[in-house]
Parts: sequence; structure tokens; C-alpha cells
Amino acid sequence: MAIKKEIENLIEKIIGKKATVEMPDNFEHGDFSTNAAIKEKLNSQEIAEQLHGNALFDKAEVVNGFINFFLSERFLLDELQKAIREKEKYGQSNAGKGKTIVIDYSEIGRASCRGIGHLRSTIIGQAIYNLYKFLGYKCIGDNHLGDWGTQFGKLVYQIELKIKNEKLKIKELNIEKLERLYVEFHRQAKEKPEMEDEARKWFKKLEDGDKQAQRIWRACVEISMKEFNRIYDLLGVKIDFALGESFYQGKMQPVVEEMKKKGLIRLSEGAWVMEFPDSQLPSLIAIKSDQGTTYFLRDLATIKYRFSKWKPDIIAYEVGTDQTLYFRQLFKATEMLGWTKDVEFIHIAHGLMRTETGKFSTRKGDTVHLEDVLQEAVDRAGDIINNSETSRGLSETEKHQLAKQVGIGAVKYNDLSQHHLRDIVFGWDKIVNLKGNSGPYLQYTYARCQSVLQKAGDSPGAVPKAPAPNEQELKILRELVRFPEIVQKSAVEFSPNLLCNYIFKLAQDYNLFYDKSPIIKAPTPVEKQFRLCLTFAVGQVIKTSLGILGIKSPNKM
Ligand code: ARG
Repeated sequence: MAIKKEIENLIEKIIGKKATVEMPDNFEHGDFSTNAAIKEKLNSQEIAEQLHGNALFDKAEVVNGFINFFLSERFLLDELQKAIREKEKYGQSNAGKGKTIVIDYSEIGRASCRGIGHLRSTIIGQAIYNLYKFLGYKCIGDNHLGDWGTQFGKLVYQIELKIKNEKLKIKELNIEKLERLYVEFHRQAKEKPEMEDEARKWFKKLEDGDKQAQRIWRACVEISMKEFNRIYDLLGVKIDFALGESFYQGKMQPVVEEMKKKGLIRLSEGAWVMEFPDSQLPSLIAIKSDQGTTYFLRDLATIKYRFSKWKPDIIAYEVGTDQTLYFRQLFKATEMLGWTKDVEFIHIAHGLMRTETGKFSTRKGDTVHLEDVLQEAVDRAGDIINNSETSRGLSETEKHQLAKQVGIGAVKYNDLSQHHLRDIVFGWDKIVNLKGNSGPYLQYTYARCQSVLQKAGDSPGAVPKAPAPNEQELKILRELVRFPEIVQKSAVEFSPNLLCNYIFKLAQDYNLFYDKSPIIKAPTPVEKQFRLCLTFAVGQVIKTSLGILGIKSPNKM
């Protein structure tokens, strides 16, 4: 059992009520701490006394009513041995056994704006996916591609005009042209609002199976998919499914029937509208007055499909905060439909990404192309690698590979290390940097651990019986054993940044220790052995964490 849970159970047994323990930032307040006595108006001292003699702790100390627990050295050393034994499995649990989570993520599908901020959903969503997988959940990733809806009406309308007037051929289309046409549409529609009606008509035609509309639509989707796949490849992300909105054509009618039967939508000026009780939320259109379907209706059909296909316990949407209101409406609608009994719905919203200057610029100029931005990250990482001592022995191919791992990792880490809800700033110098809270710093620390272990010859073997850890070593040890708890917490709170902050702290502690303490040339064999054990476990925990975050851990850097 996880240690945090174990302590909670111990306290609950004593007080007969639910108790929660926290992990204080500062070890002076213990490894774990609880305010249970304060909350329940009980005598902390009496509770603490009943915990004396438990092998888990050296002491349970009362400070201002809080009970602070200090893990025993024996426990810490046993846990270190466990980490070494379990390697990449250390920290895993069966918390999710028998449970299924559907994660709806990736937002690079919008033709309109494709700044680097549009990677957030993909990067965060993938980390959440990996976290839950690590905890034993069955994970289903689904990219709800925006491959249907009025925006395609706009494109089809524009393209159809060009085919008629300028003899454009469908096979001459490419992603640049699509983007241009989309932007053009919005510019022109400002002067000629009737274009919006035309676009709606084309979307309706598309929904009704018009051959020409379908042909143009399919070309648009194929071109975009090719573009997206290049970006997914660069990112090293593979999403299980990309069913997309278009998949739900022909699957919406039963939902409409159900809503009608339950009296949840009503006819208003030809459209079918859902109103929410007490007007807490604005109403939503399920079917438009031209009988066209909506994003909302497709989402309901999507939920129904996911229920029947995967029977999920959780459906989590990693989608920008611009859709927060919409998801409140969507979740309310599912509640009104009576669909939420066994399922938990979550919107993991993320904030915007800004740049220091307000513009995205790469060495190539002011572009917002995702691919250019990612390529620049790789180039910048390449510069660092070329200037580093350790890369000397590497071949050009190896260096290239390394630059990719470091550059892409840096972009991901920048995103993941900050709370997802916050707007974040994209600044090259901070992101691709060997120092500070960055991806490269963590990769560098991992490589450092590997280099020490390699020099020492073989695997670290057993933790010495009585290594008498010094203060710095003890701190690393106490950090290390938190790993399984941190993983849990990051998952429960859908916050990969907690995991990032944790490994950053661990890496800092290790590097401080490394600067001060000889490892291979430690004064005694026991100390050497113990330090190698710590090095091994720190390296492993960093590697496992980076893996969860979707970041590679090269052995050399
Ligand atoms: N593709 C959508 C967009 O780019 C996000 C999809 C979110 N998921 C959903 N089920 N609505 O805005």
C-alpha cells in the first residue's frame, strides 16, 4: 500500500474519522503531516503518542496542533532498495486496475490559428495519458478532430468558387492554400456577411451527402491530416484514435430522439434548443434551423459512443479554457440526460501561451508554423550539444538524434512544468537551457547519473546495511521515496506540473550533493556503495518521470 494511505489508515483507526495527510514542502515539518486533530478538535499529543513505536516513523511530533511524521531510516533504506530492485516499475501501482479512462486531447486541428499554444492539449493530454497508464488504468486516447462543422462549409464554399471561376483543381490544394482560403473567407465575410449563409448552406450540403462537397471536404481533411501527422511524429506522440467529429454522422439521431423524449430540447424558430434549469447556463443549439447538426450534438453522440465502446469510468477532456463554459454546458446536459451515474467527466483546461514580444518568431522570421517552432527548438538544442564537452565522441547522426530529443523535450517540459490552467510565456532562452527548471537540465542530470554509474563499472547492487547517511544524502533519500505519492497526486489532480516540480527538486538536491561529495572516490567502500545506490535510484526516477512526461532520457549529453 502507498505509504500516505497507510499513515491515513493508522490515524483513522485512532480517531475513527477520515483523515488526510499532506507532504510538507519543507522536511523540517516532517515527511508527512496532518491537521486531522485540529479539524476534529482532538488532542494531537494523545494521538501522536499512540503512534509511537510504529516501525514506519522515528517520531511523530506535534507542532501547533499538526502532527508531523518523520519516516524512519530503516523504512527509507528499504524503500531505496525497493526502487533499485523495481527499476522502471518503481512508483507504479494498481490504483487503476479494472478502471478505464478516455482522454480526449490534441487541438492542432483548427485551421484558423496554429501557434505553438496549439500544442498544449497534445502535450498535456499525452502526459495525463501516460500518468494514468502508469497507475494501471486502461487508457483510451481519442483525438476529437475538428473535421466537420461550419468551418468546412467555409472552405468548401471558397474552393468551389475557385474551381468555378479560376479553374482550380482539387489536387492542387495544399495546406498553405487551405490556410489562405480560410483567412480570406473571414476577411471577405466582414464586408459580405451573406457569405456566412453560403458557408452554412455548403455545410448542410456536406451533411446531406452532396458529392462535390464531400470530395472537397475529403481533400481538405487528408491534406490537414498529413500535416498533423508530421507534427505528431516530431513530437513522438501517437494517439490511439482520431475518430473526429465526422465519424458521428449518422450517429446523432438516437441522441436527438432521447432528448426529445425526455423533453430536454424544444423547438425555437426552427432550431432545437437545450435550455438549462434556473437559466444558470446559456442555452445551446442542438440542431440548427436548417436542420444542420452542431458541435454540441456531435459531442453528445461521441459520449454515447464512448460509453458503449469502452464503458469508461472517467472521460477527461484536455481542451483550452476558451471552451470552459461549453464544457459546463455539455456536462450539465449529460447529467440531465441521466448519463452520469457511473462516469466522471472532467475538463482539464489549459491557459493560453504568450510570447515575450507578443509574437512568435523563429530565426526564419515571424511565423506561427508549429513545425518551424519545433525545428528551431531542435536547432537550438543542437547548438548546446555542439558546445558541450561530453558530445565530443558522438557521431553526426547521434548528435542529430540527441538534438531532437533535447529540443522537443525542452518544448514539452516548458509546457508541462507550469500549471495547466495558467497562461504561460514562451521564451527561447529559458526553454532551451541547461540551467534552471528546464527539460535539458533534467536530461543533463540523468546523463550525469549514468556517467557516474558507468565509471563505477556495474549495477549498484544492494543498499549497505548501515550506511549512516549524511544530511544531504538523507534529503535525497527522503525526496526519493515520495515518488510514488507524487505520481498519484499528479494523476488525481490532472497536474503533470507536480511531477515536474518534484523531479526538478530531486535533480537540484542530487547536483548539490554531487558537487560536494565524491562518489567513486568516496572515503569508504560502504559510502561509495551507498552513493552509487542513490545515484542509480535518482537516475531511474528522473528517467521514469521524463518518460511519463513524454520526454526522452539520453544516456549522454
Ligand atoms: N478539435 C477541437 C478544437 O480544436 C477540440 C476538441 C475537443 N473535444 C471535444 N470533445 N469537444 O477546438
